Order: sequence, then C-alpha cells, then structure tokens
Amino acid sequence: VKAVILVGGEGTRLRPLTCHCPKPMQPMVNRPFIEHVFTHLARHGVRDIILSMCYLPAVIAEHFGDGRRFGVNLTYVCEDTPLGTAGAVKNVEQHLDDTFLVLNGDILTDLDLTAMLAFHRQRRAALTIALTPVEDVRAYGLVELGERRRIRRFIEKPQSLEGITTNLVNAGTYILEPYTLRYAPANEFYMFERGLFPTLLEQGEPLFGYASDAYWLDIGTPQKYQQGNFDILAGAAQATLPGTPVADGVSAGAGCQIAPDAHLIGPVVLGERCQIGAGARIVGPAVLGDDCVIGPGASVERSVLWQRVQVSGSADQLAPAALQGCVVANDTVIGAGCFIGEQVVISNHCVVGAENRLDRGLRLWPHRSLPPKTITF
Ligand code: GTP
Repeated sequence: VKAVILVGGEGTRLRPLTCHCPKPMQPMVNRPFIEHVFTHLARHGVRDIILSMCYLPAVIAEHFGDGRRFGVNLTYVCEDTPLGTAGAVKNVEQHLDDTFLVLNGDILTDLDLTAMLAFHRQRRAALTIALTPVEDVRAYGLVELGERRRIRRFIEKPQSLEGITTNLVNAGTYILEPYTLRYAPANEFYMFERGLFPTLLEQGEPLFGYASDAYWLDIGTPQKYQQGNFDILAGAAQATLPGTPVADGVSAGAGCQIAPDAHLIGPVVLGERCQIGAGARIVGPAVLGDDCVIGPGASVERSVLWQRVQVSGSADQLAPAALQGCVVANDTVIGAGCFIGEQVVISNHCVVGAENRLDRGLRLWPHRSLPPKTITF
C-alpha cells in the first residue's frame, strides 16, 4: 500500500513559523514533524510515500532525499499552483495502481492504520474516512454514519446544532480505491470535502467512516503546534524521543553542558550541545533545540525553542530573561530583563532587545530587531 501525504499548504495559520519553514518541517520535539508521520506509516508497513508538494518544496526534499535514511521510499511531486486536496491526489494518479492512503500532512495521530485498512477491505469500500470525535462540532466537517458505518451524510461546519446527531469529524486520513479518482477533474483546483466526497456519495459509491478515539491533533495553529510537542513529551502521543535520559523526565542530546545548580523539571528534552547556565530554570513541558544557550538565572517554562536560541542571563543590573508558554524559532536572541509570555511566537533570526515584554499571542516576523524597552504589556 502506498501513501500520499499532502504537504502543499502554506500553513498561514502557523505564520510566522511557516515563513521559511513549511509545516511538515516544523520541529516537533526536535525532529521535523513529517518524520513522525513517516515513522507512524512505517510502523504499519507503509514505506512507499508520495509527497504532494507546492509550498517551499526544496526545504523538504533537500532534508529527506530519497527517504532511505528514514526507513521510507519517497517520491516527490510538485504542483505549479495549489490544486486543492483532491486535485493534488489526482495530480499523482499515475503513481497509484492499488488501494492507497491519503494523509493530511499536518496531523499528529496514533491511528491504527492496519486496522483501518482491514476495515476498508472487509467493507469493500471505495473510500474510507478516518473519523475522530470532537467536543465542539461547529468548526468542523461532520460525518453521519448509518448501518455498518456506511457514510450517510456530510455536514460542513454546522451553524446550529439542530438535527445534528454526530460528533464525528473527518480526521484527515483516507483510504481510497484508485478508480474513485475518475470523478476528479484533472489540473483543476478540487477539494475532498466540498468536491470528491459529496460527488462519490451522490454516485452511490460505498463510502465508510472508520471512527476511533486514537490520539489525534491538527498541528495547524501555534497553540496546537505547542500542544503537539507537549503531548509527545507527556507520552500522550507515541513518538521516539531523541537524546538520552540525564535526570528524571529530562533527556539531552550529546555535548550538553548543564550547570550543577540549574533546575530542570521534566518533562524536558534538550537538543545537542545546549548550555544551561548556573541557576537557570527549565520547567517542563519544554523543548530546546540544538545549540541553545540559556544564561545564568534565566528561566524557560512550558515553551518550545528551536535551534541556536539564546536567552540572556542577568546583565548590566537587569534581571535574567524569562520565557513562559511561548515558541521561539532558530537563531533568535532574547535580551536580559525580557519577559516572553503565553502564546507568543518569535520567528527566526530576531533580536529582542533588553526589557521587552511580549505577551498575549504577539507574533514577531523573521529578522526583526526590537530595540530595548520597545514593547510592554
Ligand atoms: P492554513 O493556511 O493554515 O489553513 O494551512 P494549510 O495551507 O496547510 O491548509 P490546511 O490545513 O487546510 O491543509 C490540510 C493539508 O492539506 C495540509 O497538510 C496541507 O499541506 C495540504 N494542502 C492543502 N492545500 C493543498 C494543495 O493545494 N496542494 C497540496 N499538495 N496540499 C495541500
């Protein structure tokens, strides 16, 4: 069985993290997100993977090459303009000659693909959609099931809850028979939810829903991206963690220097060659990428730092910097006396001068320098 992973989206909701780094390459506990998806697929014996790309394709292809180092066999297909989710699969039709999987490239899940495939075959389905229950159904495309879990109705983002008897939503993993693509127009923008799925239903094709309560998260917003990292740290989502354990709940890559009186409270994952200064505090859940430097006395709580982030200790009689609940991308420097708070996203190559206070989801675009004391809340 081959898998098509859709990775063409611009990831606008995750900006500015996606300005230079497409969503599949966002570090998720220090590995590109899509590597976790490869591991999940390989665990279920799926190794032939077609990546349907559009946005920043070179960043992905240069990192993964033919995929062999990662235990998979990758084929890249790039669209000139976005073709939409179903259009993107139609565009790779020549590679698909048997039952195949389609995955949205931004879903972290432990879904049992082996069981889903058995379900699909047993039902002789044309299409099986993985479904997951949600609490608030209004933001999603709902799927109503009938006998033997055959799909009866698609309901797109209902305004009112009247007549709604399902809380199952499309979980972004599908199994399809190749002939279903006959219903999709070639070289046209075409979506699964508003295009191919309703068309197949109208045509009376056997469509089924595979409901499960397996771990499931769409990492498409900064908050969800952060949650994905934390869920992996907490063991709620399956993943192989890099590094080796150095203390209870703390693992570190090679070459880290941790001051003896630094406080590290897990779950914490440090990349390689991180330096944690005297009296610094890292309070989990927290992830630091390779070569991060946390100055003496500085603190990092519930945050995700990418590579080479510097968090200043005290300097010129200013207090050490403190980070709480934020995401900071590569090569950014946080000055002394700064406080970086909840849901703040600081992009790559930024310099936040001393005594700035960034809070409440503020987002800083790449290569910005904030002079000292520019922003306070
Ligand atoms: P937002 O802009 O934040 O909504 O993110 P997105 O662009 O990724 O869109 P969305 O989350 O709705 O997309 C779901 C999945 O489909 C993601 O993995 C996207 O990469 C992928 N995707 C969306 N549109 C296209 C497309 O036109 N072509 C391809 N190849 N993939 C797409």
